[in-house]
Amino acid sequence: MINDLWYKNAVVYCLSVETFMDSNGDGIGDFQGLQRRLDYISGLGVNAIWLMPFQTSPGRDDGYDVSDYYNVDPRYGTLGDFVEFTHGARQRGIRVLIDLVVNHTSTQHPWFQNARSDPESYYRDWYIWSDKKPANANEGMVFPGVQKTTWTYDEKARQYYFHRFYEFQPDLNTSNPHVQAEILKIMGFWIQLGVSGFRMDAVPFVIAEKGADVKKPREQFAMLRVFREFLQWRLGDSIILAEANVVPKENLAYFGDDGDRMQMMFNFHVNQALFYALASGDARPLAKAIVNTSDRPETGQWGMFLRNHDELDLGRLTEKQRQKVFSEFGPDKNMQLYDRGIRRRLAPMLENDRRRLELAYSLLFSLPGTPVLRYGDEIGMGDDLSLPERNCARTPMQWSAEPHGGFTKNDKPVLPVISGGLFGFEHINVAEQRRDPNSMLNWTERLIRMRKEAPEIGWGACTVLNTGDTGVLALRYDWRDNSVLIVHNLNSKPVEVTFVVGIGEHGDLLIDIADGGNSEADANGRHRLLLDAYAYRWFRVGGLDYLLRRKEV
Ligand code: NOJ
Repeated sequence: MINDLWYKNAVVYCLSVETFMDSNGDGIGDFQGLQRRLDYISGLGVNAIWLMPFQTSPGRDDGYDVSDYYNVDPRYGTLGDFVEFTHGARQRGIRVLIDLVVNHTSTQHPWFQNARSDPESYYRDWYIWSDKKPANANEGMVFPGVQKTTWTYDEKARQYYFHRFYEFQPDLNTSNPHVQAEILKIMGFWIQLGVSGFRMDAVPFVIAEKGADVKKPREQFAMLRVFREFLQWRLGDSIILAEANVVPKENLAYFGDDGDRMQMMFNFHVNQALFYALASGDARPLAKAIVNTSDRPETGQWGMFLRNHDELDLGRLTEKQRQKVFSEFGPDKNMQLYDRGIRRRLAPMLENDRRRLELAYSLLFSLPGTPVLRYGDEIGMGDDLSLPERNCARTPMQWSAEPHGGFTKNDKPVLPVISGGLFGFEHINVAEQRRDPNSMLNWTERLIRMRKEAPEIGWGACTVLNTGDTGVLALRYDWRDNSVLIVHNLNSKPVEVTFVVGIGEHGDLLIDIADGGNSEADANGRHRLLLDAYAYRWFRVGGLDYLLRRKEV
């Protein structure tokens, strides 16, 4: 296959315009501020930005409650600023993906306002209504503990409306062909303004059958093909990255057996196993998760991530595994959320232990997929647990030691910048880390460069090697007669492992591409590696030819 499917080997950087950089001093991040920071993002080496929702919204779910799909929220700038931004990104070789939130709108959206005011309204059937409160109204809430029901009575409509998420997010009736046509129109609009695709919010709910009498909603997978066909017709190399936290056996239905549905999906299965591995030091469930999700069409790709803007969802681990992760990374009730997850950022979870942070990011970058970083990860930002729900991990970017971390000149930033303590902007900021060659920032830049130089990971077949140690994960990737091997020690103590690379004489020499320190196989073709606690090693796999050439010199 021609290797110009850019998303197979990209590094994605996710950010929220609102909390990235404020250019006009009103305390709220904006597109002009982001524009000024494009060179910073480009310097990191990432080649795609995923923007969280920035369309007009009452902002009750951080923009995931849209009231106008065809506009930039005035707090962040104008459509003109947006196009300047996508243009600036393109000039730097960076693609832009944006959130596409079409499972639901805001209650403030004119469609909903129209729908509720008149049963005859054209928009009435754009939402899901019921005269009576359905018997299952108290099931299936996405935000248990905060969200009380999935059906709420609307006085004006004199009916109940369905909402999978908060009550101010009425579900769109996505089976309605007019709604589907509108979704395509929204995609077409933003594609025209310079984006390369969408992170599609809540995909399993978008395609689920909805209605008061639906007992077991079936997924309407054909819809995914319609979205993809439209997009590719408008812009050949545009993609959809699906947010779909589903069990592995359903993955192929989302990618499409022939690769005719979603190009990318977030790998929630591996994400949860990865956190269990970090918490327990046992790499086996992670290895299993990698194998269980290895089946995907050639053009499909995983989005791999550590923490995102939501809680770390541990809902698919076993009870015992989940308790292990809670006890290691989120023991206090205040650190947990929605009965299933942890709301902290990664650095505080790992007690700011640089060895463990490097291990975690090195693991992320070596997984079979495209790594997705979150703004602030590259400098090891912390969280503010005094903020409600997921806001604790959505605080403004820390640029410098100036007031409010250089994020804004206003005294009232949209969310407080983390100040004081281990993670305060006074210590953790871009300006300081830029000057220090050993900073997290500069280390992350080097990691990104190394990842981009190993296309085998994005394109190749992944094999888990047997190292004989349950805490050591060794992954080999083969692609076009090239191979890389990446070894991680999840143990908190040094270990010695032996293994065979397993591709004949190619594998007799492992060339260290991170720090130097090659490994030569013994007469039986076995490698012996001494690994420090939490060590990670990246090797290019060489063969006899390498050894001979070296001896000639
Ligand atoms: C998933 C998003 O990641 C989350 O932040 C949001 O609250 C829900 N979808 C609803 O849109």
